[in-house]
Amino acid sequence: MTKVKKSSNKYKLDAKEQFLIETGISDYNGIKPRMNKKYKQIGRFTEILSDKLTQSGAMNQKRVKVIDIGAGKGYMTFAIYNYLAKHNLDPVIHAVDLNEELMKLGNENANKCGFENLSFISGFADQYSGLAYYDAVVSLHACDTATDDALFMGLKMKSKVILCAPCCQKEVLVSLKEKKSLTKFISNGLFLHKMADLITDNARVMLLQSQGYHVDVIDFVASEHTQKNTLLAATKKSGKKPAFYEKYKSYKSEIGFDGIKLEQMMLDEGLLG
Ligand SMILES: C[S@@+](CC[C@H](N)C(=O)[O-])C[C@H]1O[C@@H](n2cnc3c(N)ncnc32)[C@H](O)[C@@H]1O
Repeated sequence: MTKVKKSSNKYKLDAKEQFLIETGISDYNGIKPRMNKKYKQIGRFTEILSDKLTQSGAMNQKRVKVIDIGAGKGYMTFAIYNYLAKHNLDPVIHAVDLNEELMKLGNENANKCGFENLSFISGFADQYSGLAYYDAVVSLHACDTATDDALFMGLKMKSKVILCAPCCQKEVLVSLKEKKSLTKFISNGLFLHKMADLITDNARVMLLQSQGYHVDVIDFVASEHTQKNTLLAATKKSGKKPAFYEKYKSYKSEIGFDGIKLEQMMLDEGLLG
């Protein structure tokens, strides 16, 4: 069952936390005006992650393990570590990104903050082999198919929670343009981009459901804080539900797109058999 929810913003992140200063979101006067949007995004994302970890029972564990895909400068990675550490959950958090410089900076900042189990690792998400299991896989605006890499990682290891806010989905757009199934009706480029985003995310929801995940689709912050404010929040509830993959296949052929990277990775791994 998929729900659409609006954001609420209950969680208040202290603007003077050291990690906010080290990562450049705050200075000693508080949040820098140009960083206010990122501050809102990471606060709300952390709040939703905490709700989902609580519902899944992970907040009762001694240790919670999280991986952040496409972490960039690590604003959100630090926010999650800070939150879990303050709740005595002895977090282990790994962050992966292509950008070597940012991963080096992330490790330096983690040292300065005394976040000893926070590590930044450079590399492609789909080639990363870290721990065999993470309780939660998260990604905030990881580009294009890096979101599929994050979703796949969570599905493969049956993580309790998978939380992804997708960004710049390109695969389906190419497919729609080639097949002309929708382009013959939609000539405006912006509409077509929005349609491709929507089709991609809806496909991701069905593939998550096929593995027994309950998915909430959330407008996680107000659109003035980011245009990319869709969040797929998935929690593991049951074993596989193959009917959702059948539904996905009909959807793919009726809309007229070739499929998405997540499906191919799941097929290769035998998850959809
Ligand atoms: C828009 S930034 C978001 C950064 C961060 N999550 C945030 O919200 O501030 C996207 C990041 O994804 C990384 N990225 C893109 N494709 C990737 C891939 N295939 N594997 C790992 N990282 C990737 C980029 O290097 C970039 O740092």
